[in-house]
Amino acid sequence: IPLENKSIFSGSLFHYLEENKKWRNRFVFVPDNYNLNYYDSKAAHERHLHPKGTINCAGYKVLTSMEQYLDLFSSSSSSLPGERR
Ligand SMILES: *[C@@H]1O[C@H](CO)[C@@H](O)[C@H](O)[C@H]1NC(C)=O
Repeated sequence: IPLENKSIFSGSLFHYLEENKKWRNRFVFVPDNYNLNYYDSKAAHERHLHPKGTINCAGYKVLTSMEQYLDLFSSSSSSLPGERR
């Protein structure tokens, strides 16, 4: 594993909570296994608390700009990558 014990990404983002229709600031940490772990705060991660949630990113595609996002929509008229038919 070339990235063994390395952090692929960490930083803050907003997470939309469907239950109460609110945006929450979360600290996100992606370790060498590519799982996306999110925490209430950076302090929670530093204290080695369990993540609030984990998203397995296998099969996902990372888009880094709005242009890429719009291109994806226009080039795939009805199906998105990974969509089951
Ligand atoms: C990664 O961490 C483990 C456990 O601490 C250690 O055994 C291993 O040698 C580390 N690998 C690298 C590439 O640093």
